[in-house]
Amino acid sequence: MTHAAPSEEPQLLVSCAEGPPDWRALFGHDNPLAVEVGVGKGVFLARLAKTSPGVNVVGIEIRAKRIEKIVKRIRAEKLANVRILQGDARAIFERAFANDSVAAVYLNFPDPWPKRRHAKRRIFRGEFPACVHRVLIPGGRWYACTDVLAYTREMIGSVDALGIFVNEGDATGFSERPAGYPASIHEEKFRAWGRRIHYMRWKKRDR
Ligand SMILES: C[S@@+](CC[C@H](N)C(=O)[O-])C[C@H]1O[C@@H](n2cnc3c(N)ncnc32)[C@H](O)[C@@H]1O
Repeated sequence: MTHAAPSEEPQLLVSCAEGPPDWRALFGHDNPLAVEVGVGKGVFLARLAKTSPGVNVVGIEIRAKRIEKIVKRIRAEKLANVRILQGDARAIFERAFANDSVAAVYLNFPDPWPKRRHAKRRIFRGEFPACVHRVLIPGGRWYACTDVLAYTREMIGSVDALGIFVNEGDATGFSERPAGYPASIHEEKFRAWGRRIHYMRWKKRDR
């Protein structure tokens, strides 16, 4: 009889069905947490984890097919500081993270849902910005970018109106590309097409 060697690889896919995961136990240490929402194929997630080895990076992606690709990429690149949650980030934020526990949230090229009847699906609508605020540590940052100008304006308008974040952009609310920001696959593609990309950055306002 043969026995499979015990796997040294960590369980990348984490569940929060039973409540918030014990991130400290899962990563084996208490490094700061960063969360990417809408990971896609995992290019930004892997780059962020590689360039920030002192940060524990959690990716949230709704589509199962993409999860397979992300897991493959993270395993191939042997990144120990990544974990993945599958599901709708709007529900997952409620369950997976304690108050004041996440240092940074990244949202790159959220689906713009251009048809009017689909606009309510935009992630910025509803409770999501308040959920991001709840999980961020004081002074924690929320980074977002998109190529859709109207969507940028909507995000800036709705987040700024809450009064719970400091917009760190210019007088119009738009930011510069953050120094050292890893490129996502969409950013690379749109840049190659010559499309303009809009960046946003908010800091959690002190209570
Ligand atoms: C336009 S793609 C951008 C992918 C990647 N961020 C990039 O910049 O290349 C949007 C991604 O967000 C995921 N997504 C959309 N809504 C989501 C939600 N509510 N929760 C988690 N992921 C979501 C989609 O499945 C898709 O992978």
